[in-house]
Amino acid sequence: MNDHPIGIFDSGIGGTSIWKEINSLLPNESTIYLADSKNAPYGEKSKDEIIQLCIKNTELLLAKGCKLVVVACNTATTNAIDYLRKHYTVPFIGIEPAIKPAALRSKSKKVGVLATQGTLSSSLFHSTTENHAAGIHIYEQVGTGLVPLIESNKINAPETKALLEKYLNPMVAAGIDHLVLGCTHYPYLLPVIKDMLPAHINIIDSGEAVARQTKAVLEKNDLLCNAGKKTTFQFISNANVNILESFLQGYGPSLKLSCLDF
Ligand code: SIN
Repeated sequence: MNDHPIGIFDSGIGGTSIWKEINSLLPNESTIYLADSKNAPYGEKSKDEIIQLCIKNTELLLAKGCKLVVVACNTATTNAIDYLRKHYTVPFIGIEPAIKPAALRSKSKKVGVLATQGTLSSSLFHSTTENHAAGIHIYEQVGTGLVPLIESNKINAPETKALLEKYLNPMVAAGIDHLVLGCTHYPYLLPVIKDMLPAHINIIDSGEAVARQTKAVLEKNDLLCNAGKKTTFQFISNANVNILESFLQGYGPSLKLSCLDF
């Protein structure tokens, strides 16, 4: 089992931001990444629909022998991870918005969270803010329209900038000093967001923490891969594989990209 791959899935290309962190910390681990772009965005679907999509992705990764599954999508995590953990025996790693570190570090006691409707309305999001952000004013903003723009690789397009300005300006005016990116697609907007925000506002995403948690869970379950094994990195998309490829530039020919109707 140790040499089996780590499975990772997302509603599209966003979770590749998580794959990069996992690959950087655990370069010897083989991975299989599923980009369910055909069904993006998950953030506007009902909880039941999200659970059904997560079951489909999990079943495919388990059929391919994955030893652990990373749900590299905030919306999928906040709506479906309890179900997945209850119904499957492999360990699951989820992505929760990084409310806790933002709340701990905030001096203005005002934190902005940009996430999907599905994440912001989930009970897991509410319990996280209740448990870890007492005394902090949380400014929630739904990032409607951002995921489809990122999925079309329109990172620097005028319409993306206009939407970001509309979503971020009120939080800046309200005095936030931390902005939590609560969707794994959003780290790809970092250069644009940084240009837009005053320098004192810290931007936080969950990527590194998720990679550390993946390593810890592999260690705890004695599932780290054995040294010296050949490592493979598979990426499977049910939509345009060229866009997935463009988000993985610089990772070289060892990546194996393919299309599958799942
Ligand atoms: C989406 O598919 O709507 C976004 C995924 C996420 O919440 O990370």
